[in-house]
Amino acid sequence: MPTYEPHMPRIVDPTGVEGSPDPRPMPVSTADSRASTVEETEGEPLVDFEGTSNPYIDYQSIDLLLSLQHPRSPGYDEMCFIVMGQVKELLFRGLHFELANAQVQVREDSIENALEILGRAVTMMGYVTSSWDVLSTITSEGFSQFRDTLGTASGQLSFMYRHVEFVLGNKSERLASAHRNVPHVWPAIQAALNSPSLYDDVIALLARRGHEIEAVALDRDWSQPYQSNASVEAAWRAIYADARADNLLYRLGEALTSFDQQFSVYRWRHFVSVERIIGFKPGTGGSSGVGWLEAVTHHRFFPELWAIRT
Ligand code: HEM
Repeated sequence: MPTYEPHMPRIVDPTGVEGSPDPRPMPVSTADSRASTVEETEGEPLVDFEGTSNPYIDYQSIDLLLSLQHPRSPGYDEMCFIVMGQVKELLFRGLHFELANAQVQVREDSIENALEILGRAVTMMGYVTSSWDVLSTITSEGFSQFRDTLGTASGQLSFMYRHVEFVLGNKSERLASAHRNVPHVWPAIQAALNSPSLYDDVIALLARRGHEIEAVALDRDWSQPYQSNASVEAAWRAIYADARADNLLYRLGEALTSFDQQFSVYRWRHFVSVERIIGFKPGTGGSSGVGWLEAVTHHRFFPELWAIRT
């Protein structure tokens, strides 16, 4: 365990940070204005700015972002845990954006656009997965130095992660209900719970493209987790019988499978990393811990795409 104390370099004076989540006003540049700036600076970077900020800080509210890391214990590893937790929340945000947009493209019958977006989603999912490389450097002893400060906080309460699960179709009224007392988060979670997922829209696309899909797979209670359906499996089997690169539905099936595989690897890395860090102790969120995480590694978002391989 780290026996040394963390030294916290002071980066931002929080009293100077504008705390609004709104985008800050800032001037735009053009090719012409950039050309004249280069002439003025003779090719050197700009260093003189008006007011008390600069455009890089304002574009993404960087000073605000970098004021949000507050370890609550003297444990050395807590800073790493906080930074990686926040990085993962941002990546889930980016991932959800891509998946929600892939869904829009599928709904509009633009399969090629959806394929382009899903390509990025698979890569991003790999990026989130590799976060376990860093988190696994937190030892069991290092984690125990700050675990008590988490109270009953658990990743299971991540509303951003829940949005990702829901847009993919793994719905849970119970896990959603953990957010019902948070008025600025609950309406969006509730809407996601009760809306068709990306896969529901893919199934509707298969029906539009002439595959016979049972009504129960096309219009159902969206708040329930997706259940494998024989007519959907038959449709994918027919599509995979024509496994050509110019068969866009086949490529869509493969892109979804790649994503599902990467997500499964993510769940597996979480489970193994957690076994290494806390062994078989119960989770902070009330679950049995590692046993619960192991059970969810078997989940597949798009079950028929796996079934047809057998
Ligand atoms: C590194 C130390 C970590 C440990 C020991 C750990 C442990 C656990 C445990 C035991 C659970 C089961 C639920 C419960 O708490 O009872 C869980 C769930 C979860 N954790 Fe972690 N976790 C760690 C890091 C993280 C990080 C950094 C994130 C990213 C934000 C995260 C995201 C999640 C999510 C999203 C779930 C719910 C999974 C699901 O609904 O399928 N975990 N974690």
